[in-house]
Amino acid sequence: MTRVDVLILGAGAAGLMCAIEAGKRGRSVLVIDHARRAADKIRISGGGRCNFTNIHASPANFLSENPRFCVSALKRYTPADFLKLVDSHRIPWHEKTLGQLFCDDSAQDIITMLLTEMDKAGGTLWLETGFTDISKPDDRFVVETARGRVEATSLVVATGGPSIPKMGATGIGYEIARRFGLKVVPPRPALVPLTFSDANKALCQKLAGVSVDAVVRFGKTAFREGLLFTHRGLSGPSILQISSYWREGQPISVDLAPGTDVFAALKEARQAQGRQDIRTAVGHILPRRLAEELATEYGLGGRLADLSDKVLRQTADRLNAWSLLPAGTEGYRTAEVTLGGVDTDELSSRTMAATRVPGLFFIGEVVDVTGHLGGFNFQWAWASGHAAGQSV
Ligand code: FDA
Repeated sequence: MTRVDVLILGAGAAGLMCAIEAGKRGRSVLVIDHARRAADKIRISGGGRCNFTNIHASPANFLSENPRFCVSALKRYTPADFLKLVDSHRIPWHEKTLGQLFCDDSAQDIITMLLTEMDKAGGTLWLETGFTDISKPDDRFVVETARGRVEATSLVVATGGPSIPKMGATGIGYEIARRFGLKVVPPRPALVPLTFSDANKALCQKLAGVSVDAVVRFGKTAFREGLLFTHRGLSGPSILQISSYWREGQPISVDLAPGTDVFAALKEARQAQGRQDIRTAVGHILPRRLAEELATEYGLGGRLADLSDKVLRQTADRLNAWSLLPAGTEGYRTAEVTLGGVDTDELSSRTMAATRVPGLFFIGEVVDVTGHLGGFNFQWAWASGHAAGQSV
């Protein structure tokens, strides 16, 4: 039997940060994880370079049933705080775009930094260690693990969400919450490509590999970033972002020519070069392959001079406000994160502790706080891990 002050389930971004902070406060800390290596999601994140934070992180970059819940933790552990840690380990980094900070070399630098810090703080890590049962017979938690029984005063659930099950991701954190009578906001895949079953599926297949700057809208929410056509539908940053807001059965709107009033541009072209074919004119607005496919799809053709305002308007609407009805998403198989999770009503926003179960904490992705694409999800993992680390 092993006795510790703090047992952390999950050696991901949030769990390791919590272990470091709790260890620094003199707590005895054990982290267990069923994976062979710690923090596998950090390893593959940001295309192997880990977009470890975003300097513009603010509560507006997070989705939750309670958008104010993340405020306290984010305020007390900022991107600048994490950057200070990164700099103290002399990890080279760069800002890519929109405040996104990436490692110059490898995401492994971040993992090595976290493990080194945890070691320094006296934390212990057991890998390839699953658990079967969790109980709280008195004021301590008892967890049956593959390496025997562990007793702890504080139990921190940092097991993430079910996105990418192939990597060992599970929804066990929700089960633990329910087991202690806590509410869970139904989880759903987020930051995930959208799929189509109508005519747009064939169009996307034909255009697979083409990318374009686009504004993608759902209701009042809009993102201007890259859009990528794939064999199954649409992907790219703008689509991943809107996927977190999109709801089944409702259309999204795509502006394929942001910043260009296509109707005005076509009218101008008609005036200046009336003999030009509309396909050529559209080819001056969109990438060539995209223009050609869309022109074929919409049966566009003919000299601009022969086309009415109505035809130009119809064409413009299809380019500036293309309405598409996704059939679904690619699901947890490729989703970068999971929306929903342990209901924030159940947690203290200052400490991440379950208000009704003394000593029980939830941090990171398992909580109903989900960031936009761009380093925000790691910032939430660091901030919530830090908040719990001050309190366990
Ligand atoms: P995380 O998932 O990191 O850790 C959970 C840990 O719990 C894992 O080590 C897992 O093995 C363990 N675990 C789960 N179930 C268990 C069980 N039953 N028993 C024992 N252990 C168990 N974010 C960002 O900000 N910038 C980025 O660049 C990226 N890039 C990115 C790429 C890809 C492909 C994905 C899938 C995700 C990202 N993300 C991201 C999101 C980011 O990875 C994610 O939000 C954080 O890793 C969440 O950190 P957590 O510590 O909460 O969970």
